[in-house]
Amino acid sequence: MTDLDSLRKTLLDEIETAQNLDDLEQLRVAVLGKKGQITKRMKGLGALEPEARRNQGAALNTLKEEISRAITERGRVLGDSALNARLLQERFDMTLPPRPETEGRIHPISQTLGELLQIFGAMGFAVAEGPDVEDDFHNFAALNIPPEHPARQMHDTFYFPPDASGERRLLRTHTSPVQIRTMRAAKPPIRIVAPGRTYRRDSDITHTPMFHQIEGLLIDRGTHMGHLKGCLFDFCRAFFELDEVPLRFRPSFFPFTEPSAEVDIGCAREKDTIRVGAGADWLEILGCGMVHPKVLEHCGIDSSVYQGFAFGLGVERVAMLKYGIPDLRTFFEADLRWLRHYGFLPLDVPTLTGGLS
Ligand code: DAH
Repeated sequence: MTDLDSLRKTLLDEIETAQNLDDLEQLRVAVLGKKGQITKRMKGLGALEPEARRNQGAALNTLKEEISRAITERGRVLGDSALNARLLQERFDMTLPPRPETEGRIHPISQTLGELLQIFGAMGFAVAEGPDVEDDFHNFAALNIPPEHPARQMHDTFYFPPDASGERRLLRTHTSPVQIRTMRAAKPPIRIVAPGRTYRRDSDITHTPMFHQIEGLLIDRGTHMGHLKGCLFDFCRAFFELDEVPLRFRPSFFPFTEPSAEVDIGCAREKDTIRVGAGADWLEILGCGMVHPKVLEHCGIDSSVYQGFAFGLGVERVAMLKYGIPDLRTFFEADLRWLRHYGFLPLDVPTLTGGLS
């Protein structure tokens, strides 16, 4: 048996008996590494006669390939068995119920948004989104609020410094600009809700500089105020989980709707709490109306063919009413005790069939 034959036999034996990937790696370095047994022999070829060098070189190459293959193959076997051993050890029972003692809580705003999207989703509204940083056109002008219009003052807008062209971008003051973006991008019929953050320079017991709204928009032929009323009644019944909700449509003004209305919900004020659904008091929950023909025209929609309704609802406001949360500012204080009290378990996913709250 030549020297190489016996080396081959020893190496293959060692490879076959390597018990783990670390040992195998050490072996690989000892044989094929820079100072490895085969590498060293390769380096020694230069000292041989040409004829012997050719023969010995070819034999070494064959051996090197065979050993590399054997190492790869053994590595695969060892890797598989290591994985199998781990899988056996880490076995767990997927049929066990989830652990009920989860610490985290879902914020009431997230939960309420989930409920709103469930309800409007079931009515066939798709979800649309727009940017928090808006321009004047989408937030105001296209909504029929031209410069100097008094409605602008009511919005207490956060403006950015003017850019090179002198235009001042702003933090959207309502979700209504998503109406414009949607109508300019799609052809009627349109049926969307747009949830999101809105911003106003305002901070007191009933106002925070950032709050949430959900906008609704429906555009189709023959749409009228009756459709709007039906939609909002159905929504309120589903959201407040009441068979009958007293709603009052009060004439109002918004530049982007005509006619416009504010909707109040019947409630009873008792000391620190408000109970929805009965009683002598009314509380405003949203603004709505028929989309102004000028707004449709700004978006390239023929107002002699299409009509639409829109509404905008304050998410914090309805969450406070539904869950009896007395103070708006606590929503954004990130107080864990508050969250433990008013938050929701992660598994309480709101669904129409399983229950909304
Ligand atoms: N954008 C209004 C606001 O923030 C709310 C609103 C009123 C939205 C009437 C509408 C609407 O879509 O039709 O005060």
